[in-house]
Amino acid sequence: MLYLCHLLFSIWASHLRQITFGQEFVCLELFILCLETKDQALSIRFDSAPGRQDEQKPPEGGFIICSAVMSFKTTQHINGYRMDLVIMGMVIMNNKEHWEKVYGTKAPDAVSWYAPHLETSLNLIHQASTNKGAAIIDIGGGEATLVDDLLEEGYQDISVLDISQKAIDVARDRIGKQADKVHWYCADITQATLPQNYFEVWHDRAVFHFLTQEAQRVKYVEQVMRSVKHGGYVIMSTFGPEGPEKCSGLDVVRYDAENLHGQFGKTFKLINSTTELHQTPMGTTQQFLYCFCRME
Ligand SMILES: C[S@@+](CC[C@H](N)C(=O)[O-])C[C@H]1O[C@@H](n2cnc3c(N)ncnc32)[C@H](O)[C@@H]1O
Repeated sequence: MLYLCHLLFSIWASHLRQITFGQEFVCLELFILCLETKDQALSIRFDSAPGRQDEQKPPEGGFIICSAVMSFKTTQHINGYRMDLVIMGMVIMNNKEHWEKVYGTKAPDAVSWYAPHLETSLNLIHQASTNKGAAIIDIGGGEATLVDDLLEEGYQDISVLDISQKAIDVARDRIGKQADKVHWYCADITQATLPQNYFEVWHDRAVFHFLTQEAQRVKYVEQVMRSVKHGGYVIMSTFGPEGPEKCSGLDVVRYDAENLHGQFGKTFKLINSTTELHQTPMGTTQQFLYCFCRME
């Protein structure tokens, strides 16, 4: 009997990864609740963990996001035995899959970070450069209207980078013909290939705070140092000390001005910083921090 349980368990364990629900499903626990034949019933509990999260290696170039913990029960009849299994596990996605799903399922003005115009960002970009030929990049621009406003103001060298192709497609469609004037990059900022020593303004609203691992932040800062011109400006906006601990269901790192500036180091001169209360479409407020730096 026990041998049979082990055998059945092994078969199940080897197939768990194929129970995918469209994403990768990692089994945390598997319980065999009941194993019975016509004349006997016995309860057995297997406390198994064929794919615990901590045993999972992050996929190349990404990190694992647990998007849902779920369980399901199934009944199998094998060789006259009835077996009830409860499988608990989680759906994991990499960063890109997460954002493609967000933008594939939510309207542009239904995400918590939506604002009709990014006024504070625009004001800081004006402070950084009134030269309409200045090369500006919006990191994790998503579906934000910043690019529309910059085009409207006559900026001619605008780049938008986002990990989500869906977000880029939506922004491009909204802008129409003018979208061809913009350089679009669909990439993870920690791995993107950007022109060297090129940008005069680097803008990031609500992307850096998702980098919860030190190694990711180091790569991000390397990107800034490589692609922003000396004397160029870096506008960074994250959740502030009183901001939420999560955004889009993901953990974030909250910063005050000193800590955020500290991530970038002495090469970056902190010119000023401010916090603002963002009104989400859901009627809540979120504290954002803005740091305005110059790369020396
Ligand atoms: C909270 S949204 C902010 C969007 C936009 N900046 C705004 O303020 O409306 C975060 C954006 O960063 C993008 N993103 C998340 N991680 C990224 C990464 N590692 N590299 C590039 N983009 C990323 C997401 O696709 C999403 O569009």
